[in-house]
Amino acid sequence: MAGHWRINGFYDVTKLTGLFEAAQRRESCRSFAAAPSTEQWNALTHAADELALPGVRIALGLCDTSLFKPLLAGLVIKFENVQRFAAVIVRDREPQTVVDAGVSGEMFLLRAVELGLGACWVSGTYKRGQVGLRLEADERIVALLALGIPKRLPDLPIRRRRKEITALCPAFDSLNSAQQEIVQYVQIAPSAINLQPWRISPAGPSELTISVGTPGQRLDLGIGLCHALLALGSTPAQFSLGENALSATVRQL
Ligand SMILES: Cc1cc2nc3c(=O)[nH]c(=O)nc-3n(C[C@H](O)[C@H](O)[C@H](O)COP(=O)(O)O)c2cc1C
Repeated sequence: MAGHWRINGFYDVTKLTGLFEAAQRRESCRSFAAAPSTEQWNALTHAADELALPGVRIALGLCDTSLFKPLLAGLVIKFENVQRFAAVIVRDREPQTVVDAGVSGEMFLLRAVELGLGACWVSGTYKRGQVGLRLEADERIVALLALGIPKRLPDLPIRRRRKEITALCPAFDSLNSAQQEIVQYVQIAPSAINLQPWRISPAGPSELTISVGTPGQRLDLGIGLCHALLALGSTPAQFSLGENALSATVRQL
């Protein structure tokens, strides 16, 4: 699968600088002042087409806050004034496509942040019966992204609740600076219930393997890979997916 993974060569990395910067300003936003402007919405419509890998569809929709339930693993986390969302949809049954959906959805979310919007991945706390999108036979929604003008912007730099870098990557101190930046960019990525399921290890002198533990974490794997791709910038690299789509190796060329 190494050379053929559709992530390789799909994104024009020279256009991703804005998303690289947006990743530093991103935090999950659940309270919104208003819906995106018409201009922002048009830009999102374009981004949905441009940033979705083959096999993935990003569909925009109108909603109200009742689409989002307030509970997350026993914690009361409320959504406020959500008027727009994007659905991240896989178009086939391949495990790899869920990883691709993570990459595509995070690229799209960061584009929303770049446009001045706030956003939050939502895979658990929404009412599935209330989404109201037409899906083709093999299509399945893997997550929604709540979208809008944020009620307040985060104070920078963002103080994030994250595991120690050596918990994600025990060999962190022995990596070169380019590899360390990849690990640090994965560390700031969002993950379901903030589990930060990524384990990152050197696989060779210029190779890193990022893995997750369970099939339910493939979306998080893709989100982490999106951040790895952004951290690489214009450094040429090849991504290859492990057999079971639970790991991926990034090789700098
Ligand atoms: C795949 C995925 C699913 C998520 N599902 C939910 C959800 O159902 N409800 C929610 O309130 N937050 C959800 N989140 C947001 C996470 O809780 C959040 O990313 C994590 O706590 C880290 O915080 P940060 O995004 O502000 O860095 C989800 C995030 C991801 C990546």
